[in-house]
Order: sequence, then structure tokens, then C-alpha cells
Amino acid sequence: MTKIEKIVLSYSGGLDTSIILKWLQETYGCEVVTFTADLGQGEELEPARAKAEMSGIKDIRIVDLREEFVSDFVFPMLRANALYEGQYLLGSSIARPLIAKHLVGIAQEVGADAIAHGATGKGNDQIRFELAINALDPSLKVIAPWRQWNIRSRTQLLEYAEKHHIPVPSDKRGEAPFSIDANLLHTSTEGKILENPAEVAPDHVYQRTVDPLDAPDAPEIITIGFEGGDPLSLNGTAMTPAALLTELNGLGGRHGIGRLDLVENRFIGMKSRGIYETPGGTILLAAHRGIESITLDRAAAHLKDEIMPRYAELIYNGFWFAPEREMLQALIDQSQAFVSGEVTVRLYKGSASVISRTSPWSLYSADLVTFEESAVAYDHHDAEGFIRLNGLRLKSWAARNGR
Ligand code: ARG
Repeated sequence: MTKIEKIVLSYSGGLDTSIILKWLQETYGCEVVTFTADLGQGEELEPARAKAEMSGIKDIRIVDLREEFVSDFVFPMLRANALYEGQYLLGSSIARPLIAKHLVGIAQEVGADAIAHGATGKGNDQIRFELAINALDPSLKVIAPWRQWNIRSRTQLLEYAEKHHIPVPSDKRGEAPFSIDANLLHTSTEGKILENPAEVAPDHVYQRTVDPLDAPDAPEIITIGFEGGDPLSLNGTAMTPAALLTELNGLGGRHGIGRLDLVENRFIGMKSRGIYETPGGTILLAAHRGIESITLDRAAAHLKDEIMPRYAELIYNGFWFAPEREMLQALIDQSQAFVSGEVTVRLYKGSASVISRTSPWSLYSADLVTFEESAVAYDHHDAEGFIRLNGLRLKSWAARNGR
């Protein structure tokens, strides 16, 4: 094994990373610095500090990344209306490059030569962490214990914990827990009964949204203000990106918005089934499309929609810090200059419906589109010629086919 001098570990304080911490200390016998990011996962982070201290860690980093997460990662992605395979809002995918960026920053600051993470060998997250680290500092080594040690199952993991007196949370005993990843954008749940896509997900897998069937009978109407493609206010009150998303998560959760039961294609090659809850993100996507509908030129909007699946796939596959993602981002960002105004959305039993939109930069012309008499210069005869020329080749084609 290559000699490692100092490691920065991506550490949640949960069972897996606590075991990884112990294993790193035993295997490499070097100093470990722990990094715990607050991404709005809704977990207490101080217990992570206490656990790291108990393991003899001297340098413990706990950083609140909520604002950076939403303003520099979630919002740029929202500008693209990004969805992977038509449905997934990329809540886990978009958090990885941010965590990797901070791991690299700390490694450089403390002079560490390696970064360790707790992602397993079958998932997308290992790829996302490592591609980001490669792109940000090619000199750093990566340690992925799940690919290196000979622990092969949850059961063996629990045995290792027992042997090393690492406390096992009560819900992690006996029956294995779901694999959950949560942050301000989403909660993702995988594993156990969900591994059979023919099984209906039981209600207790849902963490932050009510069943739409149990949502309030009265709709709730909200107005979101956009500036240059980014949401900046709710019901007329300006809010920071993280505060706005937090607020929308609460509203969306109450109305059962943003649930998704999906079988997706992992980059590594297998299909997997997961339950996603993205309440605020689902509202924002609908609202962003609403403001774009009146402020974007048709060709600009359609070009965005053409590149969107490619852009989403890059994020899903871990290429956030790749030149092609940055090139697409530049294109998307340029399209957003006039995407400003207000969108009113009705939240009701699982749906977020745009019901009105206004913008000082609107391209919408009532005069042009009206069914009534209008003063705008529009010659109906132009439409006749337009259709005649477009129909020309169809007539040739139909005539040939009828022969
Ligand atoms: N399948 C999702 C993705 O690749 C979520 C992965 C993390 N979620 C989890 N429950 N472990 O983005």
C-alpha cells in the first residue's frame, strides 16, 4: 500500500463513516481530519463533533454550506430546468461536487495527501466525488474504503462496529435501514423492500412530504419572484437562496408535492429504484418554467430544452467540474438575462400549478395573439403563404406515396 501522511475524511458521524474513520486510523496509522457539511440534511451536527473527538480527531471541520449549495449549485442547475431521465431533480448528484470542493480545499489547507469518502462501490456517488477531486486537484489520492476493505455486507459492518466498540444506532440494528441521502433539495431513499420495483413503496419511507391524499383540501397560492433566472422572493419578501428553498420545502411538504418513485439508470451500469422527495425543487421548477414561458424567445427556449438532457446527464454522471458542463452552463446562463418577474403557483394535493405570470421583460403580446380585432401589423395573408410553402414538400410526398 502507498504511504499516506494525512487524510481528509468526508464524515457524517453516522455508522458507516464512524467505522471508516476507525478503519483509516488502523489501516494507515496517520492523522485524519474530518469534514462534515451542513447541507440542510436536518440532522444535528454537534454529535458528529463529539464522536470525532472520542475517536481522537484533533482537526474537526463542520461547515454550514447551505447558502453556497443553493446559490452556486442548485440555482445554476434550476436555470437549465435539469431533470435526469425526464424526472429526477438530481438532489444527490448536485451535492457531491460541492462536498468534493470543500474536501479539496481543506486537504490543500492542512497539507493532506488523500481524501476518503464513504460512498459504496456500486453507486454513482463514488464517481461524482472522485471525478470532482480529479478535476480540482489531480495530485490528491482518493481512498474509498468500501472498495478496499473486506467488509462485504451490512451484517459484517455491524460486526466490525461491535468489535471496535463503535455505537450502533438502534434503528441500524437487526433489520438493515434504508439508505437515505438528504439535503436542502431532496431526500432520497433506496434499498431494502424498494429494491424490488414491483413492490409498492410503504408509506413510512417518505420523510418530508405527506401523501397527496392526506394533503389539505384547501389550495395554497404563492408568488415567487425571479431575477435573471434565479428565484429571489416569496410572496413579495426577499429571501436568501437557502431560506427560500427551506420555506418552499415546508409548503411543498405539507401539500404532498415532489414525490417520485423512480427506476433509473446508474452511470456504473445497473438500474436502481429509489424514492425521491423534492418538495421545494418541484415548485421552483414549475415556477421557473412559468417565468421562462413569457421571457424567453422560442428558439432560445427550445435550444435550452434540447441541451437539457445532456446537461442533466453530465451532473448525474459526476462531470460538474468538466469543461463541457461549464460550456453548457455559459449558454444557459446567457439565456437568463431577462428571465425576471413573478409567477403565481397553486399548491394543491401533490401538484404545483402555475396559474399566472408577469414580467417587465415579457415577450408576450396580447395584441399579436388576440382573437379580437387588433391594431398590430399582422397580415393574415402571410400565414397563407407560410403554410403553402411548408406544405409544398408534404404535397409532393403524398402525391408520390399515392402513386
Ligand atoms: N440514486 C441517486 C443518485 O444517484 C441517489 C443516490 C444517493 N442516495 C441514497 N439513498 N444513498 O443521485
